[in-house]
Amino acid sequence: MSEQTITTPDHLKQPPLATGLPVLGNVLDLAQDTRGFLTKKYLEMGPIFRVRALNQEFVVLAGTEANLFMTRKGTKYFRSHEFWQGMDDELGAARSMISMDGPEHVRFRKVQQKGYGRTVIWQHLPEIIAITQNEMRQWPLNEPLPGLYSLQRIITEQLGILAAGYSPREYLDDMIKFVRIMLLTRVTKQRPDLLRYTPSYRRARSRALDLAKNVRAVHPIETVHEREPDLIDHLLQLAHEYPDFLPESDLMPAILGPFIAGLDTVASTCAFLLYVLLTKPDILALVRQEADDALFQKGTPIAQDLREMDVTHRVIQETLRMYPIAPALQRTATQDFEFAGYQVKAGTAVIIATTAPHYLPELYPDPERFDIDRYTDERKEHKQPGTFAPFGLGAHTCLGAGWAEVQIMVTMLTIVHAVDLVMVPSDYELKIDPAPTPSPNNDFQIKLMGWRQHGTLPG
Ligand code: HEM
Repeated sequence: MSEQTITTPDHLKQPPLATGLPVLGNVLDLAQDTRGFLTKKYLEMGPIFRVRALNQEFVVLAGTEANLFMTRKGTKYFRSHEFWQGMDDELGAARSMISMDGPEHVRFRKVQQKGYGRTVIWQHLPEIIAITQNEMRQWPLNEPLPGLYSLQRIITEQLGILAAGYSPREYLDDMIKFVRIMLLTRVTKQRPDLLRYTPSYRRARSRALDLAKNVRAVHPIETVHEREPDLIDHLLQLAHEYPDFLPESDLMPAILGPFIAGLDTVASTCAFLLYVLLTKPDILALVRQEADDALFQKGTPIAQDLREMDVTHRVIQETLRMYPIAPALQRTATQDFEFAGYQVKAGTAVIIATTAPHYLPELYPDPERFDIDRYTDERKEHKQPGTFAPFGLGAHTCLGAGWAEVQIMVTMLTIVHAVDLVMVPSDYELKIDPAPTPSPNNDFQIKLMGWRQHGTLPG
């Protein structure tokens, strides 16, 4: 199939169509490596083109110009509703923060902002550390452990305790399954809907709803004034005071929100980061130094400010650049608009390739190289406008970005401070499982070699 442009009746051209397979179109490329495919097509075709995935067609906006357009004009030209609506349906709700648009989204986001802030998680530093340590104590010596799953266990427990004041321990595997299959079938649509009808998924979904009920039960509205309100309290108060705005039926996605938004994203980023540390001993040594000197002293957390962990912060930024777990955003055009000389019609399904610039050599020289000096004051490559967007862009930019950075940093520092790990096999080469969010595949395994002498001891 050749690339083509079609002239629309109003004389503005339709974006060119990317070459693809008969029937399948570009579905395989998009599914296997969304970011890589979109960067490649941007370099070949420019900042706007069309792609096909089976019977669906999307207009892709890519490059720094697309990211700036999303930041400046996204609210005017795009809505989020259609892309995220499947999640709401699955939870019996009509809408949720991420599927809302316009003023009601702004209002909802403002209320939720209080609970998702960086300072909130910072106050919970000792709990993040304790949960990580407790989980590591379960790791057997010298036996292979699944890399991603070991981190998912830690992150899910942290999210439950920190965001919802409730341990999801008993629900862990069901939550992981529910979030994964719900996203794959209802949101990204990378797997057939049939998966939702398997008994194991039905059970996982019903357990997720149970967890939400339990979370709710430990947040009685009558006693909210007697405690420091958390994210769930803010939400329940909003529902209580403004039931027209937040009816009972819309509470479910909001209560499960921290798990849905945080579980795969944070755990997968931590897994990529662990892979980086275990394959780059020089970087591991620098990060460990910060863990030993800045986060802990004699096993006790002492950090006052994350800026004290400058190297670790740069390692996280480079991990987010190279292994973005949300490679692109999907939206619907709310009205006709022009972009780079082409027309996009109202109602068009649009992909904004937010992380395509992460691998452009003119922005990030030698982009395949893991290089934490990109983020130094001298280079600041990520500060060039439109170049760095691991947390999305525009009205729905990740509300938990600051939270996620602290959670990733403290979890990983706690791990490298306490234990010596190796990969199994030691020469494992990274292979990425692309769905629903990219992560190191199941072959990524780790082995606990021992507790470090000056680290926290198992007990
Ligand atoms: C590495 C970790 C994370 C990454 C890369 C990430 C990425 C993203 C992205 C790309 C979006 C925008 C989606 C869209 O526009 O369609 C988003 C939205 C959101 N994220 Fe995150 N996220 C992370 C962790 C978290 C965590 C830990 C939380 C909360 C505990 C969180 C809460 C949210 C919320 C509430 C939204 C919706 C904001 C809105 O609709 O206004 N995220 N995230």
